[in-house]
Amino acid sequence: MSILVTGAAGFIGFHVVRALLERGEDVIGIDNINTYYDPALKQARLDRLVHPRFRFRRVDIAEREAVAALAEPGLEGIVHLAAQAGVRYSMVAPFDYAASNLVGHLAILELARALPRLRHLVYASSSSVYGGNAPPFAEADRVDTPLSLYAATKRADEMMSHAYAHLYGIAQTGLRFFTVYGPWGRPDMAYFSFAEAILAGRPITVYDGGRLKRDFTYIDDIVAGVLGCLDRPPGGTPPIRVLNIGNNRSEAVGDLVALLEQGLGRRAMVVDAPRPAADVMETRADVQAIAALTGFVPATPLAEGIARFVAWFNDWKQGRFAAADAVPGLSLDAGPRG
Ligand SMILES: NC(=O)c1ccc[n+]([C@@H]2O[C@H](COP(=O)([O-])OP(=O)(O)OC[C@H]3O[C@@H](n4cnc5c(N)ncnc54)[C@H](O)[C@@H]3O)[C@@H](O)[C@H]2O)c1
Repeated sequence: MSILVTGAAGFIGFHVVRALLERGEDVIGIDNINTYYDPALKQARLDRLVHPRFRFRRVDIAEREAVAALAEPGLEGIVHLAAQAGVRYSMVAPFDYAASNLVGHLAILELARALPRLRHLVYASSSSVYGGNAPPFAEADRVDTPLSLYAATKRADEMMSHAYAHLYGIAQTGLRFFTVYGPWGRPDMAYFSFAEAILAGRPITVYDGGRLKRDFTYIDDIVAGVLGCLDRPPGGTPPIRVLNIGNNRSEAVGDLVALLEQGLGRRAMVVDAPRPAADVMETRADVQAIAALTGFVPATPLAEGIARFVAWFNDWKQGRFAAADAVPGLSLDAGPRG
């Protein structure tokens, strides 16, 4: 199958591309490699994706002509992960969210419309659409009271997708990701920025005494769920669904800090602060729908996932990349790059 992955230099996109290559797919990856966080990390991910069946193009999805030019008739799948992520940053740079998450999502929908052989578009939504709802969060819950612009753009994506499924029959699955973490992760997320601060002896800010709870989902579980969904386009009229993809457990941020301290062998200097208005108290995914559809089982407990993250993080900080991390059986320094 020939698949386009947007946000291929990003955390989840990188892991999804790797898994698609491992199972023999042809992949086109796009990303604008923006500077929201260290582009060197994005480039380092791309450096590990050199492969004869992988082509990379630097494209901004908010530029609709550039996206339209990607319309290769052979494309059968799209995994659309490119977005401006981050809840709090949407108070700092709101128009970046409009460009990447609204205009960009529309450009991908228009691209999907132009692809004659497209079987399925899987795109990233977010658990943040649940706003201040009481957990566990189920797909049928009302989600029209977002607490951040980020959440509002992700909910708008779901609605634009619904319209395009209805109007043009484009089969789509929206995945509501719940706090994804792991090796090659995102430096703006708490687990990563805490690890950096703990290592550097800098204080970390923890909200409401560490009592905020998140459904932390390990990256390998996410990748298995994304691929499982990609293989199962929805039928029905219109052919569309949204699915939660989470760990189905809610864990306190204070416990996350303790696991990081244990892994890094250092104590954190904790500064307590009140919860910001854009942050919700607790997230927990009801994952029955994705489990029934794909057999999805979130298999990685937080302690194990954080231990794996810390092992990678130490290597990353010391400029080491384990050879074992490469795509198995394939040369890392051969193959076309776009
Ligand atoms: N990681 C999580 O916990 C989480 C939770 C909920 C939803 N999501 C969603 O999952 C998707 C992937 O998230 P991630 O954690 O891998 O984030 P990420 O920031 O690591 O990856 C997103 C990638 O998209 C690229 N990008 C952003 N705007 C772009 C544009 N206009 N054109 C082209 N490329 C662009 C970025 O350069 C980045 O490499 C995003 O849609 C995000 O909103 C992630």
